[in-house]
Amino acid sequence: MLLVPLILFLQIADQANSQTQKENTNPCGQLYLTQSPNKKKNIQLNWNFNCDDPPDTILLTLNDIRTNPNAQVLYTILPRSVFRGYHETPFTLKDAPFPGNWTEDNSNPDLNAGCFDYYIASAKGDKIIHSQCLSIQPTWMSNFGDLRIGDLMIPGTHNSGAWKGAPLLIRNYVLNQDKSIWQQLVYGIRYFDIRVGRYGNTSDGSRLYINHAFIKCTELLPELQSAATFIRKSPKEVIILDFHRFPYPNDFKIQYHNEVVRMIQSVFGDLIYPFYRMTHTRGPKLKEFWLTKQRVVIAHRNKEMSRVATFLWPSVARDWGDVQKVQDLETYVKYVSESAAPGNPMRVLMAELTPSYVSVLKHVTRNLKDLAVMVNRELSDWVRQNNRSANLNIVATDFFTGNDIINVAIESNFKRLTNFYT
Ligand SMILES: *[C@@H]1O[C@H](CO)[C@@H](O)[C@H](O)[C@H]1NC(C)=O
Ligand SMILES: *[C@@H]1O[C@H](CO)[C@@H](O)[C@H](O)[C@H]1NC(C)=O
Repeated sequence: MLLVPLILFLQIADQANSQTQKENTNPCGQLYLTQSPNKKKNIQLNWNFNCDDPPDTILLTLNDIRTNPNAQVLYTILPRSVFRGYHETPFTLKDAPFPGNWTEDNSNPDLNAGCFDYYIASAKGDKIIHSQCLSIQPTWMSNFGDLRIGDLMIPGTHNSGAWKGAPLLIRNYVLNQDKSIWQQLVYGIRYFDIRVGRYGNTSDGSRLYINHAFIKCTELLPELQSAATFIRKSPKEVIILDFHRFPYPNDFKIQYHNEVVRMIQSVFGDLIYPFYRMTHTRGPKLKEFWLTKQRVVIAHRNKEMSRVATFLWPSVARDWGDVQKVQDLETYVKYVSESAAPGNPMRVLMAELTPSYVSVLKHVTRNLKDLAVMVNRELSDWVRQNNRSANLNIVATDFFTGNDIINVAIESNFKRLTNFYT
């Protein structure tokens, strides 16, 4: 007797889940919310209309106005002839808890959670055309068991651990992120670019940090522990930690590498998928990771270390444009994503500008946040156009909540699963 309502409940929960995770079915291009990297984290409206009869109104609402006509309208803009645009609202998500109680100390977060209360909607006259929530994606990989790690599109971050710390005066030139590793994982980031610094001396206890170049940002151990905590809560996610550089001290001795590897092993232990198990050149399918229960990939730059610690994967192949202008990055991103290049088995496109010190001196106000805003507004469009996302594996960005790359990846993976591109 009790079974029927339970099954009904599960079906409804499933539907809710698939609504946040299925491909975008907007009949008229793109519509999504992002967040500014500024202190207040203002909600931004983004649209790119491509239909003959585009919407005349864009709304920010509390709850989904498509399913709930009484949803409160917080903000309205009339895009008129601007078919592709971006607009910052005064509303902010600052300090709002994640949906589904996705905190580190909650042992039972809701695996189906997807939406914050904020939605963007488009309308023509009285008719709502489309709507989309600001979302977290803590379980998105569970849809893609049949795809190989080298054939998925995977959202990542650049200088992933540079999200706090650093002296106040230079902070805006040092930090590339504003979310912790835990928060990045809950939003849906799965690739992390990590640089390690070692401080102190062996006799009275050394300390390992995540650095940006020679500047220390935050301690390594708690960030790794957060990642392990996440992996234990979300049973089908696979993460890639790419230990890309060891910038401090300059002479990073093999003994220091040993300290790092020991820490990695003590935190992740049996969760590590060792490289020596890999048999296919495109890497394992996600469901093979699920079977072994080993869902953490550790890539490492130092070859001497990889020879000793054979569980380490090679440093992820990297496409780095090293450009200072948005137009040059656009050219580079489009060039890289015009055709699929093989990885080892993975390959990461670094989609951010390099600040040149000359430009820092010339435009003292143009810090890493400003550069990220300029790129993030455009990036999702660059890779969505002309099916370019079909050719991408990992894409790593700065201040990732300012772009839609997590949803681009999920969309692209659904297309890959159904052989849409081939
Ligand atoms: C969220 O999880 C915490 C820690 O387990 C718990 O104390 C709290 O009651 C939970 N909140 C909700 C709304 O479930
Ligand atoms: C994207 O790929 C699909 C399927 O192959 C094709 O129908 C469509 O025309 C492509 N779009 C562009 C802009 O190339």
